[in-house]
Parts: sequence; C-alpha cells; structure tokens
Amino acid sequence: MIVSAVQIMPKPVVGFFSSKYIAGENIEDAIKVTRELNNSGIYSTIDVLGESVKNREEAIVCMKDALNVLETISTFSLKANISIKPTQMGLAIDEEFGYQQVSTIVKCAKEYNNFVRIDMEDSPYTDATFRLLRKLKQDYDNVGVVVQAYLKRTYDDVVVLNKIGTNYRLCKGIYVESPSIAYKDKEMIRKNYVKDLEIILKNGNYVGIATHDEYLIKEAYRLIKELNIPKDKFEFQMLLGVRDDLRNKINNDGYKVRIYVPFGKQWYSYSIRRLQENPQVAGYVFKSMFSFGR
Ligand code: FDA
Repeated sequence: MIVSAVQIMPKPVVGFFSSKYIAGENIEDAIKVTRELNNSGIYSTIDVLGESVKNREEAIVCMKDALNVLETISTFSLKANISIKPTQMGLAIDEEFGYQQVSTIVKCAKEYNNFVRIDMEDSPYTDATFRLLRKLKQDYDNVGVVVQAYLKRTYDDVVVLNKIGTNYRLCKGIYVESPSIAYKDKEMIRKNYVKDLEIILKNGNYVGIATHDEYLIKEAYRLIKELNIPKDKFEFQMLLGVRDDLRNKINNDGYKVRIYVPFGKQWYSYSIRRLQENPQVAGYVFKSMFSFGR
C-alpha cells in the first residue's frame, strides 16, 4: 500500500525526504558532494538523472550533459567517473544511434583518462546493452557494464563476458521483472550474487561490488581473502545517502569505495523509485507527513 501511495505524495514532500539520495539539481551540487566524499578518500560515479528519452534531440542533450560531466571532473580533478543509462542515450530509439552516442562519451572519457559505466536497465534492454558493450570494447578499454544478480541468465552472461575482459558492476537489480526470468526470493538472489561474484573474481576481472546488504559484503570480504584478490581488482559501491555507516566502515577497512552520486532536474522520478524500493523509508515519509504540525 505504501509503495503505491508513494506516487501520490506531494512533490515538495518527496523532495524533502529524498534530498539525502540526490546531490541536487545542478552539476555544482554533484561537484560539492564528490569533493566531500573525496576528502574522506571515497570516490564517486556521477549520474545525470533521467531515463528513457522520446526522441533523438532529447538523447543528444543527454549525451552533451555527459560530456559536460566528464569535462567538469577533469577541470576540478575530482576522483570520479560517470554512469550512464543506455536508453537515456537513445538505445531504445535506434541501436546504431545509441552506439554512436555512447561511443562519443567513451571517446571523450578516454581523452580525459576516465571511465564510463553503462548502467543496466530493465530486461527488454539487457541484450542490446551487452551488444553495445561488445561493440565499444572493440575500440575502448575504459568502459564497463552492470550485471544484475536477480536475473536467472546472469551467471551465463558472466561466463561469456569474462572472456572479453569485462569490467563489471554487480548489483541485485532494481526493476520489476517476471518470475519466469528473475529470482524473487531474497535468499536466491543472494546466492546468485555470491556465485556471480566468485566467478568474476576467479577470472581476474575488475568488479564494483554494489550492495548495502551486510551479508553480501561479508561474503565479498570472505571471497577476496580466500581467493587472495589484489585491491586493484575490485571496489565497493553504494548509493548516496544509503548506509553511510557501512560505507565508512569499508573505507576504514582499507577498501576502495565509490558512491553513486545522482543529480539533475529529473530528481522526482528517481526519488519515487528509491522510495518504492525501500518501503521502510516510505513508511517514515508517511509517518512524518501525517504528524506535521503536531
Ligand atoms: P537490499 O535491498 O537488501 O538492501 C540492504 C539494506 O540496505 C536494506 O536492508 C536497507 O537497510 C538498506 N537500503 C537499501 N536500499 C535502500 C534505500 N533506497 N534507502 C535506504 N536504505 C536502503 N540496479 C540496476 O538494476 N541497475 C543498475 O545499473 C544499478 N546500479 C547501481 C549502482 C550502485 C552503486 C548501487 C549501490 C546499486 C545499483 N542498483 C542498480 C540498485 C541495486 O540493484 C539494488 O536495487 C539496490 O542496491 C538495493 O539492493 P542491496 O543489494 O543494497 O540490498
């Protein structure tokens, strides 16, 4: 009930409660947050908010925004890279057009000695995103992808992608998928996550271990130790505003940590998704809404 009610929450209320998950509306906000993280030895990956675009013109604007982020990172010597969504760049409009757009971003990142992470969206785009990655990897080594442990196909995908030296972010997956293709059971998702992580690490591929799940973080520590994985082969990744205590602990343990720092005018839809993802947080929001003025 809370999850669907989130959609009818007044915008200012959503804004107030989601401000900890979002750097702000402008690039200056992302710079400020990244600087603060960098001062504690933590890296960031900057995301310009926005998902599907309706036409090429909108996609070109998004591509230019990404170039601007890369230029800004370089200008201010920030310890940061960029995350982009393929449909935001036009992949769903036309695959070749999407490729040209992302290729421009990866080329620019290469010139700045930086890296581009291609986020993974919902399952209609999984294959197209892997095709995009493969094509980019023919010319560039500064690009990586995301794999989602809730998808039943992911282990097989990883087996294939390991062979082309893929740089991964491994996450559970955030979209609502059919039980025919995705695990729904929390324990099954965890099991798959550990299995995927193990095969990635064993193959010597770089991986961003993206989770706030303490069980998975413990399992990652175990695998890193047992397999004697060097520190330059992995990092931990978390979302801005989520489990800061845990991220500081991992940082203090001497592991590299990177925080996903979203910013942009489309903060509202991003916030709704974050709140729906975690009904516990949405519950706090409602409680506060109904106790205003008391
Ligand atoms: P889980 O959801 O079990 O959370 C563990 C604990 O963390 C919770 O019990 C709670 O305490 C806390 N928590 C988690 N989310 C919270 C929230 N929003 N607010 C407050 N507390 C919260 N997905 C995807 O499909 N494609 C992608 O490209 C990415 N990219 C990505 C990048 C990074 C850096 C991260 C960390 C995550 C993603 N994701 C993603 C999202 C990911 O798939 C997943 O939905 C979330 O990370 C939540 O899963 P956890 O592994 O944290 O476990």
